[in-house]
Parts: sequence; structure tokens; C-alpha cells
Amino acid sequence: MASTETAVAGILADYRLPAEIPFGVEFAPVMYRADYFDGEWHAGSLVPFADVPVNPAATALQFGQQAFEGMKAYKSTGSRPLLFRPNLNWRRFARSADRLRMPVLPAALFANALSAVVGALAEFIPGGRGQSLYLRPTLFGLDPHFAVKGSDRFVFLLIASPSDAYYAGQIRIMIERENFRAASGGTGDVKVGGNYAASLLANENCVARGFDQSLWLDPKSGENIEELSAMNFMAVIDGELHTPALSGSLLEGVTRDSLLRLAKHLGIKVSSRTMPVDELVRDIEVGRCSELFACGTGAIVAPIAAIGEADGREWSLRDVGQMSSKLRDALLDIQEANSDDPFGWVVGADDCEALTAFVEQ
Ligand SMILES: Cc1ncc(COP(=O)(O)O)c(C=O)c1O
Repeated sequence: MASTETAVAGILADYRLPAEIPFGVEFAPVMYRADYFDGEWHAGSLVPFADVPVNPAATALQFGQQAFEGMKAYKSTGSRPLLFRPNLNWRRFARSADRLRMPVLPAALFANALSAVVGALAEFIPGGRGQSLYLRPTLFGLDPHFAVKGSDRFVFLLIASPSDAYYAGQIRIMIERENFRAASGGTGDVKVGGNYAASLLANENCVARGFDQSLWLDPKSGENIEELSAMNFMAVIDGELHTPALSGSLLEGVTRDSLLRLAKHLGIKVSSRTMPVDELVRDIEVGRCSELFACGTGAIVAPIAAIGEADGREWSLRDVGQMSSKLRDALLDIQEANSDDPFGWVVGADDCEALTAFVEQ
């Protein structure tokens, strides 16, 4: 153990943040690892960031028994590294784990991992507007077998990546009418790798047609908007903020919930409802819908310049970025502690006990 600690200290002493930090490509040189075996979680620790040996027959590789989270640590104007609503990420991580029959990581272990990683990397949290230390809690099954059943051994890793925001500019989205990202009763409402693998083919098709992202429809009727591949969806209609209701097959985003509350707080009317895509297109045509945007931890808020169909039809938005830039600024101001935090969303990463209590709430 002492030699791992020495190795970690040496690696951190030698680490330098690169000048360019696109989203999710620079990996911090240390990560946190905890193991589950003999029916319980065992104490974790910081280890060097490195390949992890996995048996080729492990359930993670053979059956996709894997879940993850996406969250960020922010550099505050003071000196403390801050986390944003980590309790929601822990809860969602627990739901994802349970859905794939993996053991839930105790809140105290989750908080310990966060404070260890963010504490060790505090000086490498980039401080530019919208920059952060992106954090990727990851959990997967280790047991090797070809029978379709779960595992008794699991690994939890907390990987970190100093990053810019995911999408810095405006995006163009294509309505996906052929493929579905998630099934009704499936895993669309949890954060597991298979959902993302299932989105890749349609996304490639939409990029080939000049768009950036697929807009997914609900798998039951194929008529109602769900979300994008890694972001929730919002529309400004008659000056009000509308978003698809949680249908059971889309992900309940932390950013989605935060923007809805923030918008209400700013006096904007909000509505979480079933949103037929054809109705939305008509609303754009007649000028009732003035703005669309996507939101998620990685991108924060990504204004949508245009929405289109595979057949080449396309609709541009009138007021790109008008409401969304206000919401983005208000959210970032809270996350980076440049403004008051009226909802009590922000917590320091440095006090593990307080962080555990926050995560458990
Ligand atoms: C499919 C999907 N929807 C929505 C989101 C937005 O969620 P959050 O705001 O919690 O990052 C994400 C990102 O995690 C996602 O992967």
C-alpha cells in the first residue's frame, strides 16, 4: 500500500495540465479503485491511472454488465473544489447498478472516492469558464463465464478528465425515425454502456447527413420526443420552457432538473410533458417555438441551430441561444460559485464527512 501511495505522489508531482483540453480525452494520472467480492465492498484507494486487467470472458465484456456516471468538479473563485448535486449522481448510479444486478456503491464510499480524487487533483482543475474536472464513476462485473447470469465480483473506478465543455457551439439535430435508443421497459432511464452503443449507428447516419446529433423518439409510439444521445432536450414555446416528461425510457438528467428549477426561479413558466415531434415542427413553422437546446453535465447547455429529417427537410430556429444562454450563465454561476446558491446544490469536495452527508440526502 505504501508503495502505491508513493507512486501516486510521484505521478502527481510530475503531472502538468496540457494547454488544450478537449472534452474527455486527457485522463488525470490517478484514479480511485474499490473492489466488491465475498458479498461486500472493500475499502478503496487512489491508484495510478492505468489499464485494468479484465478476463476476456468477464460479464462486463460479454453481457455489458457495466454502468457509469458523469459529473464535474469545479474550481471556485475561492480555493475549494466544488461538486454540483453529487447526491443525484449517486442515486442514479445506484439505480443503474441495481437494474443490471450489480451491488450499489455505499454513499460513504462514493463520497470518499470523490474527495480523494478531487482532493489529489485540485490544482489541476482548469479554471476557465465552463471548464472543469470531469468525473466518470464506473462499475463493472468481473466474473468470467458464458452462461447468461451476473457476477459476484465487481470493480468500481472513479476516473477523472480535465476538460472543456462537451459541445462549445451550436448543434444541428436530426429526428431519428428508424432506430430507437432504448426499449420500453428496458434500460433507457439508467446510465449503462449498452444505451450508448445502441445509439452509435444512428448517430453516424445523422453525421453523414450533416447533422451533429440524433433526436430520439419514444420506442412505444415512435411519435414523441425523448432526448439526444447524451443530453436532454428543451424547447421554448410561446416564451415557456418545455421538456419531454420522464417516460421511463429517457435519462433523468441532473442538468434537466436543475434548469427546470432555475427557470421557475427566474419567473419562466416550465412544462414537463409528452412532446409529439410533428407538433413541435409545426410550432417552429408557425413561429410559436423560437428556440431549442440540449442540456447535460458535459455540454451544460448546447443551443440547437436547426432540426431536420433524414429526407433533407430542415427547420432553423429563430432565437438560437436567447433563453438558453441566460440559463447556462445562471447555472454556471452557481456551479462555479460566482453567485448565491439558493437551492443548496453546491458542496465542497474537500470535507469527506460533509460530502457523505450531502450524498446521502
Ligand atoms: C442519454 C443521456 N441523457 C441525458 C443526459 C444528461 O444528464 P445529466 O444532466 O445528468 O448529465 C446524459 C448525460 O449524462 C445522457 O447520457
